[in-house]
Order: sequence, then C-alpha cells, then structure tokens
Amino acid sequence: MKFFIDTANLDQIKEAQELGVLDGVTTNPSLMAKEGISGRENILKHYVAICNLVDGDVSAEVIATDFDGMVKEGEELAALHEQIVVKIPMIKDGIKALKYFSDKGIRTNCTLVFSVGQALLAAKAGASYVSPFLGRLDDISTDGLQLIADIRLVYDNYAFETEILAASIRHTMHVIDCAKLGSDVMTGPLSSIEGLLKHPLTDIGLEKFLADYNKGNS
Ligand code: E4P
Repeated sequence: MKFFIDTANLDQIKEAQELGVLDGVTTNPSLMAKEGISGRENILKHYVAICNLVDGDVSAEVIATDFDGMVKEGEELAALHEQIVVKIPMIKDGIKALKYFSDKGIRTNCTLVFSVGQALLAAKAGASYVSPFLGRLDDISTDGLQLIADIRLVYDNYAFETEILAASIRHTMHVIDCAKLGSDVMTGPLSSIEGLLKHPLTDIGLEKFLADYNKGNS
C-alpha cells in the first residue's frame, strides 16, 4: 500500500518524507489556498518545490472544466516535473481529458469520485489513479469504506490497472480499513500516518525495558 500525504504544506511534507514511508503527495486548490499560495506562477513553483522534496508522485489539479482548457493546463503541469500526475475532475469533459492523457502516456488522477459508476468510467478512460473521497461520504452518513470495497471488486473483476487512491482520509482507522480492503494507495493528513505508530503497550514495554537496563547498569 502506498502512503501519500494530502497537503501543500512543505514542512509537513518534509516531516513525512523524513519518516521514510512516504510514496507521494496529493494537493487540491483548497489545500493550496490554505497555504496562501495563489497566482498561476506561484502555484506552479510550489508544485516544483513539492516534487523536489519527495521521491514519489505529486498530484497537481487542473482548474479548467472544459476539455481544451484541461488539456492545455494538464500538459503544462506534466511538463513541470516527471513526478507530476495530472488531477482531473470526474465530469464529462474530464473523462475525455483522461482518455487524451492516457493515450499520450501522461499519468492522471481522477478526483471527486463518489460512486462505483464514476470509478468504472475513470478506469475505462485509462486513469492512472482514481480518488474516491471516503471521508466526505462518511460526512453525509454514507459508507465511504463500502465504496472502496465495491471499486476493488469491480476493478478486480476486469483486471483494470487503475490504482485505487483512497482520498479524504480523516484518521488512522480509515488507513487501516483501506489496507484491509486492498486499496492501492491512501492519502491523508500526517496525523493519520503517525497514528499508526501508537500503542500504549509499546510505551509501557519500552519504559520497563529501559528501567530494567538502568537497574543493572547504574
Ligand atoms: C484528494 O486528493 C483530496 O485532496 C482530499 O483527500 C480531500 O480531502 P478532504 O475531504 O479532507 O478535503
């Protein structure tokens, strides 16, 4: 399972990278705005800064919602750095853009996916990644994890190569549940990754080991 961090914050990306388990980064226009990054030139520079911090894939989202606009922006994003994956919204022109990029060998991440039907279309169009937003489904009392399980079943039925990127992860249990369901990737905040570390018996055990060592060596 690949671990992506879902942020445009360079400090958090660096911290996750230094942990040694990071496989990539996802961003979106809201995450860029949260970091105060605005203006096309600054946004493009920020993507390059992220690529220079991590080894893996970096999703960069198009703003256009028409086919020609998405193609123009996506090509500009892809040319920025070899690690860039062009993030395309799940809309009709987005499907056409996914197919266009797939035919050109440019990697894509289909975003804002909330149903199995949408995920099936993204795979048919040749998306490299599909991003079902499980946290946002949970927010409206719909089972986000069930969507991950259903997409896994459909993709396995036809051996689609599109990777399931469980997005809108809110906490550590989401990560564990997605791993059990066979999600290829998860993207979440740093806290969702660091939460995997925690167990009180680890802390108690370590404290005891150190106390016993100190008794014999003081
Ligand atoms: C995915 O790529 C999105 O950036 C993200 O996971 C959205 O998460 P949110 O629902 O917490 O905003």
